[in-house]
This record gives sequence, structure tokens and C-alpha cells, in this order.
Amino acid sequence: MIKDLIMPYFVVAGNKQRQKIDSMPGIYRLSADNLLLELAELTELGIDNILLFGLPKRKDENGSEAYAKDGVVQNAVRAIKKSFPKLIVMTDVCLCAYTTDGHCRAGNTLEALVKIARSHAEAGADYVAPSAMMKGQVRAIREALGNKVKILAYSAKFASGFYGPFREAAKSAPAFGERRAYQLDYQRSDEALERIAVEIKEGADIVMIKPALAYLDIIFQAKQKFNFTIAAYNVSGEYAMLYGNKGMILESLSAIKRAGADLIITYFSKEVGQWTKDLHRQKNI
Ligand code: PBG
Repeated sequence: MIKDLIMPYFVVAGNKQRQKIDSMPGIYRLSADNLLLELAELTELGIDNILLFGLPKRKDENGSEAYAKDGVVQNAVRAIKKSFPKLIVMTDVCLCAYTTDGHCRAGNTLEALVKIARSHAEAGADYVAPSAMMKGQVRAIREALGNKVKILAYSAKFASGFYGPFREAAKSAPAFGERRAYQLDYQRSDEALERIAVEIKEGADIVMIKPALAYLDIIFQAKQKFNFTIAAYNVSGEYAMLYGNKGMILESLSAIKRAGADLIITYFSKEVGQWTKDLHRQKNI
């Protein structure tokens, strides 16, 4: 299980930052220096994968800091790769945390996503994860970057109430309107499977389903139908719901695996790593 986990982190600019997130107990927004300290602990526990979200110094209409060479994610990736060359670094490729209106789209979104992906890949990211649910997002990145970077595609992202805590964490709540216009309707499963088929064809290396727990049927169907590498995102609302209950956490993560997920993005990754280590220690006594 440990090797299948991906731990998400929220990165902020500056030094010595460790900001509490009220909606996500136990999770912090970290500056790169503190993130490196945290990663020393994480890698020690045997977790090999992380997913980074950035909070820019300044937002603007176009979300331009998302693709700045010295943006918060780009700087963090360079620092991480220097200290932890073997850690698999994945980066969220989206505009919502960078735009003043908090939407995932601005101007020519596909072009912006490619610019973000390129800047992350140049900084050393192993995977870029386009999450704007923009049609053609995987193809555009693949065509522009070839095989320089792998793609973790947010292929089936449902319009979900379970993203609430994340929007506080990433300060990305839409200023008006909703994301329903571009995220999937949870009453329908056919559309999700279609999107997955398309993004596999466009060149994704991993396809993701999000959220996880209310969508085990989609994970199951996708695995059966495509027999492709599937990631499931155990999102912030699921984290808040399960927080503090080890039994419920392990049961839920097992269910996600049982449904067919090869990889699980979960804020519980570090904790599960700690439990696994404690278990080994007890066995060795
Ligand atoms: C946006 C993005 C979201 C999450 C990951 N990427 C939020 C959204 O679509 O509103 C949510 C993750 C979580 O809830 O843990 N690009």
C-alpha cells in the first residue's frame, strides 16, 4: 500500500512558513525550506510520490504566476529535486489558485496550461497533472512537450461538494459562479468513462478519478474497461470526514484499492506510512 500513495502538499512563497489550515487539521501550507524538512520525514517512511499545489505571491486576471520561471511551485520543484532526486514529483497544472476570480480558466486556457506544464517540467517535475477539465489538455501538453514529462490526467473530475476544505487550503474558491460548467455531473457515469477513454488516447500516463469514495463504481468500471493505470484522489472533504479515525481511514483506502485504483492521492499518506512503520517495529520486537 505505501508505495501506491501520493502525498499532496500546499507550497507558499517565503521562508519558515507553516500555516495552519482550519478546514484540514494536520495539514499545513509550507514554504520550500519547511517542505524539505517535511520530505525528509516522508521519504524516511517509504513514501515515494508527492503532488504539489502552489499558492502564488500575487494573483492576477490571467493567473500569470502559474507559469513564472521562478514561481512558487517551480522554485520548490528545483529545491526538492536537488535534495531528493529519487522522489517522484507531480505538480498540479491549473489556474484557479492563481487567478483573481478563482476560476480554472482564463484567456487561452490550453495555451496557459501548456506554459505551466512546460515551466514545471523544466524545473524537474516528473509528472504534470492538468486539472482544469479542459478538453484537449492532455494532447496539447503531449504535443508541446513530447516525452519530456509524464502526464497524470485529472480525467474524471466531478463537480463535488467534497472539495470544500481544499478551496480554503489553496485559497482558490471561485469569487462567483461555480465549476459545474466544466466539472462532471455526478448523476452521470458515461461522461466520465468517455473522458478517460479520450485522455488515454491523447497520451496520458495515468488517469485520475476524483473524488474517490463516492465514486468507487467509476474507479471499478474504468479499471475493468481500460485496464490502464488508475489513480484515485481521496479529496479534502473525505479527509475532513475521516480525520482522526484510523479504522475508518484504513478501511476507506482499502476500498479504493479494492475498486481498482493503482495509486491513491491522499492527505493520509504520511500517517499511513507512520502506522506501517510502527507495525514493523512491533513485529521486530
Ligand atoms: C483545482 C483542484 C481542486 C482540487 C484539486 N485540484 C479543487 C477544485 O476543483 O475546486 C481538490 C482537491 C481536494 O479537495 O483535496 N484545480
